[in-house]
Amino acid sequence: MLYRPRRLRKNSIVREMVAETRLSKDMFIYPYFVVPGKDVIHQIDAMPGISHFSTDTLIKDVEKGLKLGVNKIMLFGVGDEKSEDAHSAYDPHSLVPVAIRELKKNFGDDLYIVTDVCVCSYTNHGHCGILKDDYVQNDVTVDLIAKMALNHAEAGADMLAPSDMMDGRILAIREKLDSNHFENVAIMSHATKFASAYYGPFREAADCAPNKGDRKAYQMDFRNPAEAVREALLDESEGADVLMVKPALAYLDIIAKLKQNSDLPIACYNVSGEYSMIKAAAQKGWIDEQKVVMETLHAFARAGASVITTYHIRDMVENNWI
Ligand code: PBG
Ligand code: ZN
Repeated sequence: MLYRPRRLRKNSIVREMVAETRLSKDMFIYPYFVVPGKDVIHQIDAMPGISHFSTDTLIKDVEKGLKLGVNKIMLFGVGDEKSEDAHSAYDPHSLVPVAIRELKKNFGDDLYIVTDVCVCSYTNHGHCGILKDDYVQNDVTVDLIAKMALNHAEAGADMLAPSDMMDGRILAIREKLDSNHFENVAIMSHATKFASAYYGPFREAADCAPNKGDRKAYQMDFRNPAEAVREALLDESEGADVLMVKPALAYLDIIAKLKQNSDLPIACYNVSGEYSMIKAAAQKGWIDEQKVVMETLHAFARAGASVITTYHIRDMVENNWI
């Protein structure tokens, strides 16, 4: 036998040498849910290990993470006033902009702040836009999303991650930012965000489930890989800096396709349902959590993601898995 693949698997030294995929702490973004009040750390039932934080406890937790190398976070606001027109989404006194200002006051540029930009936590019906006759109106929602993006940029956000899936929002956000001198604030587009049941636990965490209908008239159909490439390239042409695929685990083919079709950094969002499935099975003793988490995250990198948003990163750094 001329070629014996097992030669390069003989021991861990040679296996490490020839490893084709490596994870580094630098790739990861950790999501946080900010709620009103003081001294709040409230565990989210369906997401063991993940909590709601008020701004004061958030700062303490972020500080712990920073010491371990978690220096990129993504913020979601939960508990601002909900209304027909989602006006809290662009209120500078709402949870996210206030938290950004506090975090930047404490950590400056040691902390890179990404924010989720979408109005579903601010509408009284839970849809990601303004409703008319039960249909989410695209262009008025885009105006709202751009205002929300500017609100976060003014507070000091480093990167904006629009997750609404309206057409034309990346260009609208880019123009809004540039015309207000925020040309250095980056956009990580949820370029291909699929209408997915894997968001289940998050909707409890973010209190943003639609009270009627679903999100299929704006989020993507999971049967459509060619459309996913079109969506992503559209966002690239509108000025996105990073293209994200969401969810991640059941969409590795989409990550790989975007990697082939774009030179932009490709990100993925390892969503709440993916996290909770692993946590639940591990708690039952049915799987080895560390091994399954590391295998899963390597799969994202192998498929082509160089940025990974995941709820697992704190466990990973606290337990020296990475
Ligand atoms: C809402 C939003 C969702 C997630 C992030 N932003 C849920 C949805 O679209 O219904 C999901 C994140 C997760 O499941 O971890 N725009
Ligand atoms: Zn939304």
